[in-house]
Amino acid sequence: MTDSRDPKGLRKDAPLLDGWLDFRAGDAVSFGTPGHKQRLDLVGAVVDGDVPLYGGVDTIRQRAGAMAEADRKLARLWGADWGRISVGGSTHGNQTLVLAICRPGDEVIVTRTLHRSLLLGMVLVGVTPVWVSPEVDPATGLPTRVPVESVERALAEHPAAKAVFLVEPTYVGTLSDLAAHAKLAHAHGIPLVVDQAWGAYFGFHPDLPRHALQSGADAMVTSAHKTLPAYTQSALVFARTERIDRDRLERAFEATATTSPSGTIAASADAARALLESDGERLLGNLLAIIDHARERLRKISGLVLLGDVIDRSVIVDRAKLAINVSGTGATGLAIEDHMVADEMAIELADRDTVVPIITMNDDLASVDRFVDGIGEAIERERSTPRSVRPSISWTVEPKVVISPRDAFFAPHVTVPADEAIGRVSAELVAPYPPGIPVLAPGERITSEAVEGLRQVMADGTQVRYAADCTLATFQVVSDR
Ligand SMILES: Cc1ncc(COP(=O)(O)O)c(C=O)c1O
Repeated sequence: MTDSRDPKGLRKDAPLLDGWLDFRAGDAVSFGTPGHKQRLDLVGAVVDGDVPLYGGVDTIRQRAGAMAEADRKLARLWGADWGRISVGGSTHGNQTLVLAICRPGDEVIVTRTLHRSLLLGMVLVGVTPVWVSPEVDPATGLPTRVPVESVERALAEHPAAKAVFLVEPTYVGTLSDLAAHAKLAHAHGIPLVVDQAWGAYFGFHPDLPRHALQSGADAMVTSAHKTLPAYTQSALVFARTERIDRDRLERAFEATATTSPSGTIAASADAARALLESDGERLLGNLLAIIDHARERLRKISGLVLLGDVIDRSVIVDRAKLAINVSGTGATGLAIEDHMVADEMAIELADRDTVVPIITMNDDLASVDRFVDGIGEAIERERSTPRSVRPSISWTVEPKVVISPRDAFFAPHVTVPADEAIGRVSAELVAPYPPGIPVLAPGERITSEAVEGLRQVMADGTQVRYAADCTLATFQVVSDR
């Protein structure tokens, strides 16, 4: 008989999902946390379905060993020696990997298009970044790949670097040649670590990129919640232990994890893993078909350009991603987003020239048609004179490291007017959001280009986050005294 709460029959292969379903079907009275006690009478349905990992999905003493079993299945599917389900997002995964691989004072080669969570992992440990940058596609102003030669040069100048950290794919679905990056890192005796937050489905369909471990990386993190049918906050962290110490990985993971993991979030990641294993290729085939359908329709909108159609053919792209340039329509991505939000369609990323929706295996022809109709109508309402592309400062910033991010983070700081901040060392991280890539990081010299670029994206309508003063009238800089 089919269980309506487990329509795909995943329970038999997903120990955390199994524990979650059993708990929900049972009648246990809890004298532990959480305080809502599974009752909905005080705050309502907002706590419905919230089951703790310990004392819910499994016993407090973990008698069923459900988490360990789910982690074993996870590692096996991705071909890793070590794998853990996290309920703290790729943010937790990035912190784990920096803590596991680096020591205070280390230098690492790292892409500047990193997420702030990786940078803040470096603050936690006391690592100094040696930046490398992706190339930028001239037609769309979007990042493509980090050339292997850039990392080679950085390693020649910083031979003591302890690891290479890349973010693959970029926010817009482009990838570097990871196999070549892995070969280079390994020739220097150091690990390649990949933040693959946006590529949880990589490696599960022949027409999609291979995942980072398949390309030779030593560790990767991915957000299950971003693109798989899994709860917000669920993430997966993996490593091979040839160049990375397993015990340090375990300690680092636990050091930055909550001690009260949500069994519901973890069970959803376990279920998503089991689904990928049993049915991933078919579901991803469907996804690619609806994306191709969307692409065909989008190409008919005059002035609209798809990154995948114009990018250098040698760059690896995620075919399941749509990165749309709208500068030729005269409409801005931000105005388009406003219309679409008014029509109850949230868009993952919109800036002046770009719109990037997230379409997943939970979409269907009707939902992608709604997106295409929505963007088409919004463009027609906003259409005006085509403008040339201006790459966002997020992709083009040229950072000047003066002191380590950690030293700057803990240094005494003062607040100064923006014009006086130029030439000083930033005490804070400042990033347009999305994509959340730091334009200023703690420890870097504040340049007029960075301030101008931030002002520009703000004038376009993009939100600037994480600064103490998000109007950018003042900046916090490291005190001279
Ligand atoms: C490249 C990248 N890494 C890590 C993260 C953090 O992921 P999470 O929200 O799962 O913590 C993000 C979030 O957008 C991201 O874009």
